[in-house]
Amino acid sequence: MPKLKLPAPPVPGALKPAPRRPGSTRNGGPLDVAKDAGASAVDWVDERTSLSGGARWLMFRKIPKGTNWFYTLGSATMFAFLNQAITGVFLSMYYDPSPTRAYESIRYVTNEAFLGEFVRGMHKWGSTVMVILIFLHMARTFFFGAYKYPRELNWVIGVALLILTMAMSFTGYLLPFDQRSYWATIVGVNINGTGPLVGPYLNDFLRAGPDFGATTLSRFYAIHMLLIPGALAALIGAHLYLVAKLGTTAPPWLRAEDPEPLREEVA
Ligand code: HEM
Repeated sequence: MPKLKLPAPPVPGALKPAPRRPGSTRNGGPLDVAKDAGASAVDWVDERTSLSGGARWLMFRKIPKGTNWFYTLGSATMFAFLNQAITGVFLSMYYDPSPTRAYESIRYVTNEAFLGEFVRGMHKWGSTVMVILIFLHMARTFFFGAYKYPRELNWVIGVALLILTMAMSFTGYLLPFDQRSYWATIVGVNINGTGPLVGPYLNDFLRAGPDFGATTLSRFYAIHMLLIPGALAALIGAHLYLVAKLGTTAPPWLRAEDPEPLREEVA
């Protein structure tokens, strides 16, 4: 079958400078320059990078008929992740991953730092929101059959994103280092230890020593704020690349009609 190549979508009108027409009041004065500033800045960057082709490829895509609010759940999950990344950066400015200082540093953020309670609340509640959204998004793609050919790889990447998101919640839970997070994490690590084959190794890796202590806390912190967010960001990039490349699935109740048969059926 010949490969169908769609022409690149046109540059949106808002990004083009207005044309000069006879009788127009445009005279190239400072007001006109100010009006065209956005377009000129985009042109300046584009002339040097040719990024606009890629940006148009990513953003101006054809979407199937019947696309609805359920299709926003993936982007909502992504924004929940961005919220976690941004609020996490601010929390890390105050957090101290040592067993004697961790609780006190979080108490300081909550009660004394400027907007600390707000930022911590956004991070804490944001984690729950992200977990709820990721499950809703997964349910949407499952019930719309979006895991089938040619999107199997995107489903597999999605499964990795789900596991990493759960691991993010698990490692974050220990960080306040209060009684509840300490004992809940011991229970969680022990449950991991009961897993087949890798369980005991995973247990040792997470505990980072014979007992729960300073090394465990700093290991959880490193996994929580460096390892997993890095992996999540890279995998979300791959996930979105495949979404842009393959397009999204039409809702199952709006499947395209069967194409006309290519030749007459021979009786
Ligand atoms: C951090 C987590 C995730 C983010 C940020 C994310 C983001 C997105 C976005 C923005 C889309 C396109 C719009 C949409 O369909 O909602 C999408 C599509 C898709 N996602 Fe995710 N996703 C995540 C997790 C998952 C998980 C856990 C699965 C399944 C196990 C999954 C499977 C898929 C599939 C199969 C598609 C293609 C949908 C289609 O073609 O209609 N994603 N994702």
